[in-house]
Amino acid sequence: MSSLIVAMDGPSGTGKSTVSKRLARRLGAAYLDTGAMYRVATLHALRAGADLTDPAAIAAATASLPWSIGTDPEVEDIRLAGEDVREIIRGGEVTGAVSAVSAVPAVRRALVAAQQRIGRDAGHIVVEGRDIGTVVFPDADVKIYLTASAEARAQRRNRQNIAEGRGDDYEAVLAAVQRRDHLDSTRAVSPLRAADDAVVVDTSDMDIDEVIAALAAVVAEQTGAT
Ligand code: DC
Repeated sequence: MSSLIVAMDGPSGTGKSTVSKRLARRLGAAYLDTGAMYRVATLHALRAGADLTDPAAIAAATASLPWSIGTDPEVEDIRLAGEDVREIIRGGEVTGAVSAVSAVPAVRRALVAAQQRIGRDAGHIVVEGRDIGTVVFPDADVKIYLTASAEARAQRRNRQNIAEGRGDDYEAVLAAVQRRDHLDSTRAVSPLRAADDAVVVDTSDMDIDEVIAALAAVVAEQTGAT
């Protein structure tokens, strides 16, 4: 195949990033983390001191966004004006503000256009996000929607927090997961939902290897590849 676009959507905590990168490696494809792009836009808006309750202020603050993002699944490379922002965009400040920034239509328009260009240029690519199969690549060769119960996702996130020394508070993590689900699925622009033609994979009771095996089977079936 001269080009292959795999759209990977779903809420956070489903193992989506790990799985998307591993699937890209297995397919010899590029990988694009669109959530990282919304996080870079959020960092830029925060640094500009934009009022995050004002969509027009967010749009103005992010109208010129000097970001760059790599598409090698082995090498995470995300920059803002040349600065390596891989760590800071995963921190609490950006995570707490990203829903507001990613709800602004002008921000989405600009980032969706960039995602489409990167995807077209890549040839073979796994694109991970929330609206890839519905908005960014409605004609993707393969559409997968990864899901898991809120409890399973909160458990994974809490285990990750414990492992990384950020404390142990399952109830708070569950509340945060539910809050973000609600914001992401009820926003007016590109709400989180599975495309009608997406294959839904529930990862609640699967480990990463099982998910990868299931996804590789979906890709093989839908593209005729092995
Ligand atoms: O996947 P993530 O947690 O890094 O995503 C960060 C935020 O960006 C999340 O609140 C949803 C939003 N997002 C989006 O609106 N559209 C995408 N294609 C990807 C992420």
